[in-house]
Amino acid sequence: MNRKVTVVGGAGNVGATVARAIAGKELADVVIIDIAETKAAGIALDIYETCPIIGSDSRVIGGADWGAAAGSDIVVITSGRPRGPDMSRDDLVRVNFEIMKSIAPKLVEHCPNAIIIPVANPLDAMAQALYRLTGFPRERIIGMAGVLDSARMSTFIAKELNVSVENVSSFVLGGHGDTMVPLPRYSTVAGIPITDLLSKEKIDAIVKRTAGGGLELVKLLGTSAWYAPGQAATEMVEAILKDKKKILPCSVFLQGEYGITDVFVGVPVKLGAHGLDEIIQIQLTAEEDAALKKSAASVKELVDVIGM
Ligand code: LAC
Repeated sequence: MNRKVTVVGGAGNVGATVARAIAGKELADVVIIDIAETKAAGIALDIYETCPIIGSDSRVIGGADWGAAAGSDIVVITSGRPRGPDMSRDDLVRVNFEIMKSIAPKLVEHCPNAIIIPVANPLDAMAQALYRLTGFPRERIIGMAGVLDSARMSTFIAKELNVSVENVSSFVLGGHGDTMVPLPRYSTVAGIPITDLLSKEKIDAIVKRTAGGGLELVKLLGTSAWYAPGQAATEMVEAILKDKKKILPCSVFLQGEYGITDVFVGVPVKLGAHGLDEIIQIQLTAEEDAALKKSAASVKELVDVIGM
C-alpha cells in the first residue's frame, strides 16, 4: 500500500487495537514500534496473518527500530503507563512525560512530516508535551479523546432510548478528564436534541457516566480500556488518510479559539489530509463556557507541572 501509519507503543493493548483496526480496514501499511521488541514483532505478525482472512493488503511489521517508521503519514502514540485502579489520568503525568521526552526526538528524526495522534494519558498534557518537544505545527498534533468520550456518550444514549447507535451523534468538549464537558443540547438522535427526548435526570446520569467512563472501565478491567480507545484513534486516522474533512472532537492547541490560549483542549475540529483543517467554533451558553474554561484550567495546571 502507499500509505503508512506507525503505532508507537503498539505492543500494548491500545496500540495493538489501533494496528489491527487499521489493517482490518485496509487503510495503510502498519509499523508497530515498541521497546518490547519481540512482542511488537509477534503482534505485528499475528495481525498480518489475519489479513488474508479479511482480505486486506495492509502489510504489518513490528520491532524496536524507528527506521521502519520513516515516511509515515501518521504516527499514533499509545506508549505510556495505563491507569491502575487507584489512579486518575492525572497521576500519570510525570511518568508518561518521561516517555514523551524519549519519543519526541525520534519523531523529529524519523517522521518529520507525519501527523501525530497522541493517545497516552493525561491526554491533553501529553499532546501539549509532544507539541512543545517536537516543534511541529499545531495542525499536525491532534490528540485522541473526544471521539472516545462521545462514543461512550452515544452508547449510553442509544441504550437509554433503544435506538440504533447510527442515529446518535454526541458532542463532548474539554479536557479528557473529570472536567470534560458533554453538551446535551448538541447531542442528537436522528437530528433531534436529546434535551427533547430525555428527562433532565436521565441526561444528567448519561453526562455523569460519560465523564466517568474511563474510570468505569479501569474498575472492571484493572487497567485502562483499549477497544474503544483504539477504535477512536482509528477513526481519526481514517478521516486524515482519506481527507474526509470529517468533524470530530479532538484535543488541539488553542490560540484564542473559545477564548482559550496556549493549551490543548478538546473542541470540534475538521480533519483532512493535512491534519487539523479548521477549528469549529460554536456559541456556548454562559454555563457551558464556564465549564469549558474550567476544564482548560485543569489541563493548564497539569502542563505547568511538567513545564510545557
Ligand atoms: C479511557 C482512558 C484510556 O478513557 O483514558 O478509557
